[in-house]
Amino acid sequence: MLNKENKFYVTTPIYYVTARPHLGSLYSTLLADIAARWHKVRGCKTFFLTGTDEHGQKVAEAAAKAGKLPQEFVDSFIDAYKQMWHDFGISYDYFIRTTDESHKKAVQAWIKRLQESGDIYKSFYTGFYCTPCETFVTEKSELAEEKSAAPSCTSCGRLTSYVAEESYFFKLSIYQDRLLKLYQENPDFITPRERLNEVISFVKSGLKDLSISRTSVTWGIPFVDDSKHVTYVWADALNNYITAIGYGNSVREQEFNFWWPADMQVLGKDIVRFHAVYWPAFLMACELEMPKRLLVHGWIKVNEQKMSKSFGNVIDPEALLKIYGAEPVRYYLARHMAVTQDSEFSTADLEMRINTDLANDLGNLLNRVVTLAHKRELYEIKTPQNWGVAELALRDFFWNMLELIVTDMEDGYFHRALGNLWRFIGEANSYFHAQEPWKISDTARFEEVVSATCHSLYSIGILLWPVMPQKMETLLTSIGVSFEIKPDLDLIEELNENPWNKTFMLSKIPNLFEKYQPEPATSVTETAKKEEQQLTNVSIDEFSKIYLVVGTIEQCEEVAKSDKLYKLQVNFGSYGMRQVLSGIKKYFKPEDLIDKQVLFVYNLEPRKMMGLESQGMVLTAQGESDTLKLITPGGPVPNGTRLK
Ligand code: MSP
Repeated sequence: MLNKENKFYVTTPIYYVTARPHLGSLYSTLLADIAARWHKVRGCKTFFLTGTDEHGQKVAEAAAKAGKLPQEFVDSFIDAYKQMWHDFGISYDYFIRTTDESHKKAVQAWIKRLQESGDIYKSFYTGFYCTPCETFVTEKSELAEEKSAAPSCTSCGRLTSYVAEESYFFKLSIYQDRLLKLYQENPDFITPRERLNEVISFVKSGLKDLSISRTSVTWGIPFVDDSKHVTYVWADALNNYITAIGYGNSVREQEFNFWWPADMQVLGKDIVRFHAVYWPAFLMACELEMPKRLLVHGWIKVNEQKMSKSFGNVIDPEALLKIYGAEPVRYYLARHMAVTQDSEFSTADLEMRINTDLANDLGNLLNRVVTLAHKRELYEIKTPQNWGVAELALRDFFWNMLELIVTDMEDGYFHRALGNLWRFIGEANSYFHAQEPWKISDTARFEEVVSATCHSLYSIGILLWPVMPQKMETLLTSIGVSFEIKPDLDLIEELNENPWNKTFMLSKIPNLFEKYQPEPATSVTETAKKEEQQLTNVSIDEFSKIYLVVGTIEQCEEVAKSDKLYKLQVNFGSYGMRQVLSGIKKYFKPEDLIDKQVLFVYNLEPRKMMGLESQGMVLTAQGESDTLKLITPGGPVPNGTRLK
């Protein structure tokens, strides 16, 4: 094994398996993949861990709703995860599932260890619980008697439920000072730093002991000596980061000692507290080293709202894959979704970036230089004896950018690194145009311009490989470089020292990036215009006859012999349950609809379709690229809320 200095261990959060992965899951995973690939380019030995979080109340309830046993339910999603990671070139080394026997055993060993060290005690929990977040909202509630006064979850805003049960507690409170010292001594423990301040004020406000077992939930890892207690899902899940590499298994001790501590742990801002407070405290309790860095990213938003299954605005990455291909989507997510903040995702913007950043700025440069050289029957391009002034300036520009790019890539600020790389791509384009190589008659001078452009493309290919590996390998092949990563070979260091002395062999390839041709923009505006001409106004009294009501889709079934219809059972709160038939099957899978709060026309004349009665109509809007969007309230509201 290599020395530890040269290893890089990176993790993603493990995903709740209540549905197929969406763009948010892909984003977390992609950031880890880019970090892993970047370290491969640097000659590190890397280990990249991802997986699924399969226990707990949330998953158990979702399984029950789907009429499946929890194990059968979670099993049904795993292929979709693995397929998506494969489709998007996610190069993970190990996929952990918290239902794996080895993980369960290791968690039990961890509990035993904490029991022995006196970090766990048995008591009674009364308070509130948020199932969607799997969080104890108030640890020891003063509202214990007022069971009806359930507060909203401070994180997701949904109503919590009252819980009173025997529980094991972890002595989190005794770690308060050590945690504060950790943050103080390691200001880079959390990236971006602003997130660290939020954590510090949370810890300073006082830590209560943490309930780490449930007796009212059975879908979890049982305590060995007290099996009516199952491990609280976060205590189970967080430990995946150590159990996957051999914690608790004496045979794998060496392996564990090699990889731990993690060098980078990627997570979304919604789960910072679990990773920056509970997780380090758990590690302190079993005397393990702290992870080196938590890379905390913001949310992908769609229509200014967090993209999430419960808001009904999730984007399926497989749909993007079919239209745009995996690597342009990887690039767009890495460059235009800033790690440091929430970012709005839009397909119109994605298309624009494919056309400008990828096809125009990068693909075209490669295409032009190769075509031009071939026109003059030049295939092998050697370095000139001496570089000219413009070429030296271009190289200097590159070296300056390289320094900034390396710092940002190391820190996980990939969007910023890509911004600076594109400044260099812009500079290389300007250089190429300014030299007007198509007008140069002197072959040596012409070759010099081609060589400088190829050196630029070579550097770009190496730096962009972590983001678009296949495209960059193709780019490099086109200039005669076979891309190879080897342990201990730091290709970035080579770029830094490279005096531009490479020979290139140019071969023509099909366009590296295809421009996206949007559909002719007739539909929306023209239809709107036509409709406007035929519009008649309605009075407020007429409008008030229409009941637009919020309901949650609780069941969704196919209708025999219909390839369009779904039969929905909708909970309208105080208005009761209703059956609604809707021709939306082409656009959604049942799991995209179940549990969604959406808007319905409630008092539409009932009508029969395929022999079944429909008592209402679900409201939708046509989106881009033949998609359909459900109309949802801006956030959770009680079922049966009428729109006014
Ligand atoms: N199971 C826990 C994590 C346990 S880790 C020991 C969990 N799972 S999750 O599936 O709900 O979320 C996993 C990750 O996906 C989080 O980092 C979350 O921030 C990320 N995303 C979910 N929706 C997202 C967006 N809309 N945008 C970006 N990432 C978001 O939490």
